[in-house]
Amino acid sequence: MCGIAGYTGWRNASEVIIKGLQRLEYRGYDSAGMAVTGNGLEILKSAGKVVALTERNGKQGLAGTAGIGHTRWATHGEPSDINAHPHTDSHGNFAIVHNGIIENYNAIKQDLERKGHTFRSETDTEVLAHLIEEMHATGGSDFTRAVRQALSQVEGTYGIAIIHKDQPDRIIAARKGSPLLIGIGEDEYFIASDASPVVEYTQKVIYLEDEEVAVVSKDDCHVSTLKELEQSKEVYELAMSLEQIEKGGYPHFMLKEIYEQSETIADCMRGRVIASENRIQLGGLADVLDRLVNARRIVIAGCGTSWHAGLVGEYLFEYLAKVPVEVEYASEFRYREQLIGPGDVLIVISQSGETADTLAALREAKKRGALVLGICNVVGSTIARETDAGVYTHAGPEIGVASTKAFTAQVTVLAMMALLLGQQRNIISDELMKVLISELLSLPEKVSAVLENASGVEHVARLFTYSSNVLYLGRSYNFPVALEGALKLKEISYIHAEGYPAAEMKHGPIALIDEYMPVVVIAATHHTNDKMISNIEEIKARKGRIITISTNGQSGVGQLAEFNITVPPVHDCFTPLITVIPLQLLSYYIAVNRNCDVDQPRNLAKSVTVE
Ligand code: G6P
Repeated sequence: MCGIAGYTGWRNASEVIIKGLQRLEYRGYDSAGMAVTGNGLEILKSAGKVVALTERNGKQGLAGTAGIGHTRWATHGEPSDINAHPHTDSHGNFAIVHNGIIENYNAIKQDLERKGHTFRSETDTEVLAHLIEEMHATGGSDFTRAVRQALSQVEGTYGIAIIHKDQPDRIIAARKGSPLLIGIGEDEYFIASDASPVVEYTQKVIYLEDEEVAVVSKDDCHVSTLKELEQSKEVYELAMSLEQIEKGGYPHFMLKEIYEQSETIADCMRGRVIASENRIQLGGLADVLDRLVNARRIVIAGCGTSWHAGLVGEYLFEYLAKVPVEVEYASEFRYREQLIGPGDVLIVISQSGETADTLAALREAKKRGALVLGICNVVGSTIARETDAGVYTHAGPEIGVASTKAFTAQVTVLAMMALLLGQQRNIISDELMKVLISELLSLPEKVSAVLENASGVEHVARLFTYSSNVLYLGRSYNFPVALEGALKLKEISYIHAEGYPAAEMKHGPIALIDEYMPVVVIAATHHTNDKMISNIEEIKARKGRIITISTNGQSGVGQLAEFNITVPPVHDCFTPLITVIPLQLLSYYIAVNRNCDVDQPRNLAKSVTVE
């Protein structure tokens, strides 16, 4: 988590850094700081959002053309001015910003304390600064070598940037487990934990790999390993524009991203759903298609919303391709007796492509010989680069911390994969394929129709703004949507919400139902209609307040509800792509009504790069 932005070149570094930190703020936003070399080493830090740092920086700003900055998501030590990065060595000679966790920091700290070091903050990062200082003092005059020596001793993860007052235009950057890239400009370089701070200045980037160290000055960038092996790095072109990372007139990124969905679903299918030939073409899987088609079993792993997309994928693969599927929380994947191996396929799903637990699951499965495929949104991300093959979601940058358009794009990819597999495995007849392809292609228009109806959802949101609990129920393809609806509400409005398979309600949650309890029932699948009607009756009998999501013309459901939100009908297996939209809107409007910080909800971060 946390965002790192660094600059060396000819511009005012503090301006570049602050702008970069604002763009990175979705990664963490409890405190921020920067160090600039101009008049020696000057450091400015502040608890709170980047705006607080901007105020401290004032009109003039720190002077200097090189510097590093950080926006924090606290792991060690509460958010405060002192714990904010950058941290320095004992003499204030250099400053460091860090993303990740130094797991053995306590042992190192105790050792350094015995050697006379004193610490000001509670962070693991300050310990790393002092370790570098110690290596420098005892190991000779080469500062970069001291950094390497210190990094070789730490356990855990890091993405770091360091600036030294004696080498004012030089930044040392290194990574292990936390992403870091370097943007290449004309006589200038940018260092960042993702592309958003860089895209305004250059499209050319190099990605640091684990245990690589870059030494960057305004006219040179030199990358080698921790063990001092020279690395020649490929330069990539960014697939991102500035416009995509701005709000474009919407009050929040989340609303913009919700409204983008008819377009992002269409973009995701472009060139992949070939209606004229009644087939799906996924170029990213071409080389591994045989192994995928003959897979003994598919395991899907992800976190948060990506895990929910994986659950929808399970229903899709089983129905359309008749292949056994298991869905795992990526964070638990390593803690089970893993029976995954050659013949199995692991599909990891990650919007950011950087989630630490998902990456760890990927590495574990790869080690055990499974084919590892990725469904990622961020092009060039670590997960996208480490998987054997994969499919990008092409949803464009997602900035709102609560994931919306990434979810629908992930489900669209899973639907296309399931269709491809089903056809290749001779499960889907030509006729059914025709129907499903045309249903898939009808989705963007249907999503637009749901969005045109947003005022109905806004009305419902007003009535339930001050609820303390909300229950979401769904069956079959829409059980994961119930989980996702509940997660959206929790994330941004801080209302307690739970998603349940509708029938499971009777095994516990029904005890909570009374006249104050809103129950959102996602009832849009036809093959579960009768059973859902029974569940709604059960809630009604206990005076629960029922909000249904049903399709136009669906019989029996809407009539039972206090509020019925209708969506256009689509083949049951694709309903999650339609039914999730009103749930995203519902949580958005409730959060706005409650004056919550929709795009940057408390305690959360967009990209969770610690385990
Ligand atoms: C965080 C985000 C969620 C996201 C999850 C997984 O919790 O706040 O929105 O679903 O991480 O992220 P990923 O980038 O791997 O999809």
